[in-house]
Amino acid sequence: MAARMRLLLWCRLCFPAPGRPRLSQVRLSSSEAAAQGAPGREEADSKVGTRKKTFSEVQAERLEQAQRTVLISCPAKMSEKKFLKYLSHHGKINSHYFYESYGTYAVVEFSEKDSITSLQDVIRTPGIEEECAVPFKSRLFTLMLKNPSTLAADQAPVHCHKQSTILVNDLVQKLCSADSVSNQLYTLMEEYQLTEENIKLRFLACSLIQEIACAYFPECTVKPFGSSVNTFGKLGCDLDMFLDLDEIGRSPTRAKTGPFYMEYQMKRVPSQRIASQRILSVIGDCIDNFGPGCVSVQKILNARCPLVRFSHQPAGFQCDLTTNNRVAMRSSELLYIYGSLDSRVRALVFSVRCWARVHGITSTIPGPWITNFSLTMMALFFLQKRTPPIIPTLDQLKDQADAEDKHIVEGHDCTFASNLNKIKPTENTETLDVLLNDFFEYFGNFAFSKNSINIRKGKEQNKPEPSPLYIQNPFEQALNISKNVNQSQLDRFVALARECAWILQQEDKGHSSLNNSQPWGLAALLLPSVASNCIKGKKRRRGPASERIKSLLDSLKMNNASSLVKNGGKRTFSNQTR
Ligand code: GTP
Ligand code: MG
Repeated sequence: MAARMRLLLWCRLCFPAPGRPRLSQVRLSSSEAAAQGAPGREEADSKVGTRKKTFSEVQAERLEQAQRTVLISCPAKMSEKKFLKYLSHHGKINSHYFYESYGTYAVVEFSEKDSITSLQDVIRTPGIEEECAVPFKSRLFTLMLKNPSTLAADQAPVHCHKQSTILVNDLVQKLCSADSVSNQLYTLMEEYQLTEENIKLRFLACSLIQEIACAYFPECTVKPFGSSVNTFGKLGCDLDMFLDLDEIGRSPTRAKTGPFYMEYQMKRVPSQRIASQRILSVIGDCIDNFGPGCVSVQKILNARCPLVRFSHQPAGFQCDLTTNNRVAMRSSELLYIYGSLDSRVRALVFSVRCWARVHGITSTIPGPWITNFSLTMMALFFLQKRTPPIIPTLDQLKDQADAEDKHIVEGHDCTFASNLNKIKPTENTETLDVLLNDFFEYFGNFAFSKNSINIRKGKEQNKPEPSPLYIQNPFEQALNISKNVNQSQLDRFVALARECAWILQQEDKGHSSLNNSQPWGLAALLLPSVASNCIKGKKRRRGPASERIKSLLDSLKMNNASSLVKNGGKRTFSNQTR
């Protein structure tokens, strides 16, 4: 397989593609690109008329919508019409859709919350012939046919919405039929981004967990954060949940007159961390014991940020529930702002994340690898460094903040402008073709040994400590978000970045394949690489990846009398990673 891929790469490098535009030929601005109808460029639901909604507005709307929604396990074959008629006895249905996760499920959004109470009044508790059910009534139901054999037999299966991404091989094929590298990036984003249905399901899962937590803390809310809401989420990504107890702690203003005031008697614990651990321990037990569909519950309370991890089987999400994690909520909002400012931001971040995952630069298992969060920070930093910058620095966003944007969380200044409509759009018109290439070139040559990455300032700074990769936490400024990354993981990233820059530059010089059926542009970057194969097999050789590709090409050329490439655009890179 790897040999075949290498051969494809060689073919692509040896034969130029006549119809494909080169980097230099496709310098469209993002608005020009949008006008051409490239996919995934506008977020319909995040706008009111021409005004873009704030993160808080979007969150509040979706949380409220989730409260009016139920999740129903259904037979795969049934009459959708009869199903909707049956449910509409309890009230108007705003929307519904089906998906598959360990069976077929329906997500049904009523127009009024009361409809759910009406529905719950007629729902039975399960029979207890063999096992005993824990009597916890949630909004997760099972629909059964009274007479399965006669009713289901003549029905077609219901139409299910996709909840996962296409396979990488299929993606590579799809990317090959795009007409520019820019459109490849938009195509990838379109394929990978969370769908409207999947986002609704994420909010619904949070709302179902909130019902459990409400048994102890009636005024709590459970909100999604991280990639589920920051505009960079990929179908299948985990669901980070935040148990928000702040509303309970918010004191009403004290009456100015009269000699008295009262306060609640509450248990006192030595620290906020201990309070979080105790709360999560109890809620974790509740989820484990009473949460319908919640399985594999693990309490990871000694982590830097204590959490309860579980799988929400009906929704198909791996969930991480945390509390007292307000800084992460602010990070999510900040990323949402960056992701909403310019269509190129998301397209580049999605592609870089996908590229990193395919090559094992990132992993779902914790370890010394670069995380998606760190990678996103690197991409944002790179976009801040363009001339003119594509996105503002965090300090610039802070300068544009209104009074209501002021947020100090545990002594950390988390203030930044939240009103997207007030942030001036960039005048930078570079295409994603250029940006993708320059991203790899920039980080292939970055002085990681000396400099840190800082999106607050938008410029490199001296590293305060010798971690191989130093990305300053934008809010807790004394922390490095990539402290876990070791030198060899950073080296892999750099080697691959250099290789990718080289591959893209070869294409721009016309050293490409004969036709679009050979992977090119972004598609070629998703193929197993020479550099990563060498490193994975622990046969690491010294010298830049471009050298290794060159020697592979040279050996292939020796066997091919009609060799077309002569020292094809070999580039040298400074070795600054150590
Ligand atoms: P994926 O889950 O990989 O799609 O991305 P994600 O952004 O959701 O990352 P993850 O689930 O690992 O973390 C969820 C959120 O926690 C992130 O979006 C950040 O807001 C925050 N976070 C993650 N890692 C760090 C870290 O190292 N430091 C800090 N301060 N926050 C982090
Ligand atoms: Mg996540």
